[in-house]
Amino acid sequence: KPSIIVAPSLLAADFARLKDEVESVSRAPWLHLDVMDGHFVPNISFGPSVIAALRKHTKAKFDVHLMIAPVDPYLEATAKAGADHITVHVENAPHVHRTLQTIRSLGCKAGIALCPATPPEAISEVMDLVDIILVMTVNPGFGGQSFLASQLPKIKKISQMIKESGRDIVLAVDGGIDPKTAPLTVEAGARMLVAGSAIYGQSDRDAAIRALQGAD
Ligand code: DX5
Ligand code: ZN
Repeated sequence: KPSIIVAPSLLAADFARLKDEVESVSRAPWLHLDVMDGHFVPNISFGPSVIAALRKHTKAKFDVHLMIAPVDPYLEATAKAGADHITVHVENAPHVHRTLQTIRSLGCKAGIALCPATPPEAISEVMDLVDIILVMTVNPGFGGQSFLASQLPKIKKISQMIKESGRDIVLAVDGGIDPKTAPLTVEAGARMLVAGSAIYGQSDRDAAIRALQGAD
């Protein structure tokens, strides 16, 4: 059985109680933090100062998903705020090769995200530089959207690309992940599941995380 990493997405938390909301999901090994700029995506969330303020309240790896343009000027601030992983969008990084190298030079794991309209081939030349590949299963910008099953063949294709690379790359999915859709993505090869509403929408956070972990 593949082991599944669940990463609760703080975007769906109650922003008036962020510390408690972070602590409520402490059983999850990763915490997913969505940084949005109202430019690359049509919504604004939070940035490095909020991430830094939360850093001391959990041992979880901070998995930061940057949906901002330009992204390069904010990599260092994101790392300094306490990010363990920094994921950037391939659509949004004209020199993505350099961007990924910069993330690694800051001591973080490097992730690359693909929007629903982006083909798997878009990342074929950076497979040696990525530690995480994040397939968006909704159009980025908002929580609570419906899962796009059209992305399943892409997950399968990228899973194959990872095997061929021989590298230890985490294949992640983000958007509309719940106990019904999670098993479809795991079947296609996903090993990390980002979930906002499916976790923060439940009063029993432990049970919600377990329900996703059981997706295999
Ligand atoms: C969407 C974000 C997601 C979002 C997922 O742009 O990248 O991480 O929080 O939310 P749910 O799980 O509610 O679809
Ligand atoms: Zn995200």
